[in-house]
Amino acid sequence: MIKEVDLGNYKTNFVYYLSNKEVGYITTEEVVDVVNVTNVYVEMEFRKKGIATELMSFIFKKYKGNKLKFMLEVRSKNEAAINLYKKFNFEVIHTRKNYYKDDDALIMEAYL
Ligand SMILES: CC(C)(COP(=O)(O)OP(=O)(O)OC[C@H]1O[C@@H](n2cnc3c(N)ncnc32)[C@H](O)[C@@H]1OP(=O)(O)O)[C@@H](O)C(=O)NCCC(=O)NCCS
Repeated sequence: MIKEVDLGNYKTNFVYYLSNKEVGYITTEEVVDVVNVTNVYVEMEFRKKGIATELMSFIFKKYKGNKLKFMLEVRSKNEAAINLYKKFNFEVIHTRKNYYKDDDALIMEAYL
């Protein structure tokens, strides 16, 4: 089950529960017609079971028709997250070279 928690300031947590246990979440921030995906996380022992996919599908349904696109930032070495985003047609629009001490940051976007 996915519960929506309004955090105020146009921020929302979409929390995934399994048997009343919180096992993952996505945090969004609405900025005019863009939705920034600021956090995506699934507890280690529940990964690779499709939970992040379900959360992403949920937010696509939620914002479709109301907002123009999603934007997010991800470390270039974070293969799991990048694969997840590509599944939802996110594309790299910019690379922030050496944004992190040990990595570049990719800015990705997907149209709704
Ligand atoms: C990224 C993360 C949210 C994925 O959650 P998840 O519930 O395991 O993802 P799913 O099971 O829905 O997998 C979705 C897709 O992601 C990709 N993926 C997931 N884990 C992967 C891994 N270890 N290696 C490569 N690709 C992976 C696959 O393409 C997968 O699609 P498929 O099942 O059709 O092959 C999870 O690994 C996580 O919480 N990581 C730590 C936090 C993080 O890095 N967040 C992103 C910050 S920008």
